[in-house]
Amino acid sequence: MRNKLLNGLTPAQFLRRHWQKRPLLARNSLPQFADLLSRRTLIELALLPEAEARLITRKGRHWDVRHGPFRRQDFAKLPDRDWTLLVQGVDLLLPRAKELLGRFDFIPYARLDDLMVSYAPPGGGVGPHFDSYDVFLLQGEGQRRWQISSQRDLTLVEKAPLKILSDFRPTREWTLNTGDLLYLPPRYAHDGVALANCITLSVGFRAPSAQDLCSRFYDFLQDNLDARGLYADPHLKATQQPARIAPQLARGLLDLLAQARWKRADMLRFIGEDLSTPKSHVVFNPPRRALSAPAFARTARRNGLQLVPASILLYDDHAFYMNGERCIPPAAARPLLRRFANRRKLDPAAAIPAGAAELLYAWYRAGFIAPAAE
Ligand code: SIN
Ligand code: CO
Repeated sequence: MRNKLLNGLTPAQFLRRHWQKRPLLARNSLPQFADLLSRRTLIELALLPEAEARLITRKGRHWDVRHGPFRRQDFAKLPDRDWTLLVQGVDLLLPRAKELLGRFDFIPYARLDDLMVSYAPPGGGVGPHFDSYDVFLLQGEGQRRWQISSQRDLTLVEKAPLKILSDFRPTREWTLNTGDLLYLPPRYAHDGVALANCITLSVGFRAPSAQDLCSRFYDFLQDNLDARGLYADPHLKATQQPARIAPQLARGLLDLLAQARWKRADMLRFIGEDLSTPKSHVVFNPPRRALSAPAFARTARRNGLQLVPASILLYDDHAFYMNGERCIPPAAARPLLRRFANRRKLDPAAAIPAGAAELLYAWYRAGFIAPAAE
């Protein structure tokens, strides 16, 4: 059957021809998610203290950006056109949004960032710009005109409150209707303007910069440092150059500093922990009245288990990484845990090996996983 998600391409073909290379338009790609959110629900989300929301208005060439959380009255007196409300991290606020992200699970979870949703009346948008990361733009309710450009000149307007290209020269244009999907690679110039009351769902990806990754690795080393010993010089000779760092002093300190080296295994551990670390504002809520371990095991067998939306569970050939923490379960537990990580759920009645039961119970107590709803 024709794969509507990617305009007839298989995931492998899409990745080879388009991913990080060129845009793709897929008509009628995901119509079943078009009603994921209404203007009213999006405004409700923007009122939550934990929401990352922005309200952008345009008057001619003048842009204004306000950051949430918002109050209800902020939306009462908005004009009929030329504004947009954007809410990041909707996948953590709305369970069905996670299902939408699941449609893109042919791309590793470690590359996925979040679902951003925008609402705009006619004329609303964020202006011509480029994003640093890959994005799939799904048209919800309404229509949006997208103009895109392969231009190299990505100079931005100086002193604007948001990223606006100073010389946008569109080379292609489409009107997206409900259910249509547009993929854009990183740094591809684009401008989406609402034609009718318009919801856009942006499935956004992430990629660490070398600078950020290295700087977080140094933090990791610092946190995990276990250097031993104290500089000692029982054979010290009297000096007439007390300011000098003599070779034997330097040698002694170099011996101590040699402990600051790291191994490939340390780097792999860092990568797993770093990629599975949720965003800093995420909090997990442990169950208020936790089940006992045997009751939890019975419920898990009867209902199955699921990761809570904010949890990130990844693995490599050596270990599992749950929300920034490494764990090395016994070999017998690993196939089940890999299945859990890949599918984000475990079916009812899956036999749970002893080595996994303890770990799953600890994750349940921490609020990282929960029994699936009956
Ligand atoms: C929007 O939803 O208005 C903006 C999406 C984008 O251009 O990245
Ligand atoms: Co964009």
